[in-house]
Amino acid sequence: MPLYLGLMSGTSVDGVDAVLARFEPGFEIIATHSTPISAELKQRILDMATGKGESIDKLGVLDKDLADLFAEAANNLIEANPIPRSEIAAIGSHGQTLRHRPSLGFTLQSGDPSRIAEQTSIKTIADFRRRDLAAGGQGAPLVPAFHRALFQKSGTDRVIINIGGMANLTSLPGDTEQMVIGFDTGPGNVLLDEWISLQQSKAYDQDGAWGASGMVNSELLERLLDEPFFQLPPPKSTGRELFSMDWLSIHLNNISPIGAEDVQATLAEFTAISICHAVASLGMSSPELYICGGGARNLHLMQRIARHAPGSNVQSTATLGLDPDWVEAAAFAWLAWRTDSALSGNLPAVTGAAGERILGAIYPA
Ligand SMILES: Nc1ncnc2c1ncn2[C@@H]1O[C@H](COP(=O)(O)OP(=O)(O)O)[C@@H](O)[C@H]1O
Ligand SMILES: [Mg+2]
Repeated sequence: MPLYLGLMSGTSVDGVDAVLARFEPGFEIIATHSTPISAELKQRILDMATGKGESIDKLGVLDKDLADLFAEAANNLIEANPIPRSEIAAIGSHGQTLRHRPSLGFTLQSGDPSRIAEQTSIKTIADFRRRDLAAGGQGAPLVPAFHRALFQKSGTDRVIINIGGMANLTSLPGDTEQMVIGFDTGPGNVLLDEWISLQQSKAYDQDGAWGASGMVNSELLERLLDEPFFQLPPPKSTGRELFSMDWLSIHLNNISPIGAEDVQATLAEFTAISICHAVASLGMSSPELYICGGGARNLHLMQRIARHAPGSNVQSTATLGLDPDWVEAAAFAWLAWRTDSALSGNLPAVTGAAGERILGAIYPA
């Protein structure tokens, strides 16, 4: 049965995740691989995403360089595993989000799919989000359809929470006749990463240990939770355009100075509470919570989520048979399989699109 290779680099800009999987006759992961993103490329991505490096030439060169990195990640995975390229039906490449502004009618994922197809000799499917936007949706989140396909269980209410740079959830009602909903809950790791990077030049707070060493500042916490995004009804999605260092600085400037570790502790608490409020808004009684994305490795954050979701069992998706590190890349392999099979990939109830759509564009091998 044909294989599909998913490529994902999220808002954290920590690396390109690659997953080779099959979906027929049943779901199976064949191989995984992660290619790091250099500090230099990460800076160029963030400069472009925050508008500091804007020029059409820089955007074009970045689009090319990202494509080369995505192709390298795919080729690395293939070369590390004894799989003939001919067995891989298609690559599903998410691209690197440089801007996500559904309110202005656009979202921009970069990484030229023509170059990926050329360098891998494999059909490449990309640009999954814009068709949903064209149909009036947010173009995000797209992973809930995959979560439903993989993780829904009749008779048990489940919520899948993906904690990448941003966090998004998928509600999977035990009553499978009920609608599946999903939306971005707000920041995931992004503010935790930005703050420790500014204070200690580290990419992330290993195991959440630094955050765990600080004290939550209730004044800052209240101000952060006052953000109007949290009151918006779904469908909704967000990104670095809103939850950025600039956003945090405005709030820090409005309170008495506090210790750097207390800011980290408060950010972890804020992230956990914003996720748990979103879970509570679903109105399920004590659903099972399954975490995926890099945030699942932040032990402190996991403990705070468990504390704010009393009665719910908080586990990682590993319990359901899929390692939390590979869920998103597997979702883009799945979306490639859907498009390649002429099947829709979006859930209109999640994105707000006018209907189900076959997502993305196909770049032949
Ligand atoms: N051991 C760890 N301790 C704490 N946080 C971690 C750990 N490993 C990964 N992370 C967090 O996960 C993030 C990457 O998560 P990922 O799911 O790849 O996000 P994205 O989809 O935005 O790329 C890192 O930036 C970091 O914040
Ligand atoms: Mg990542």
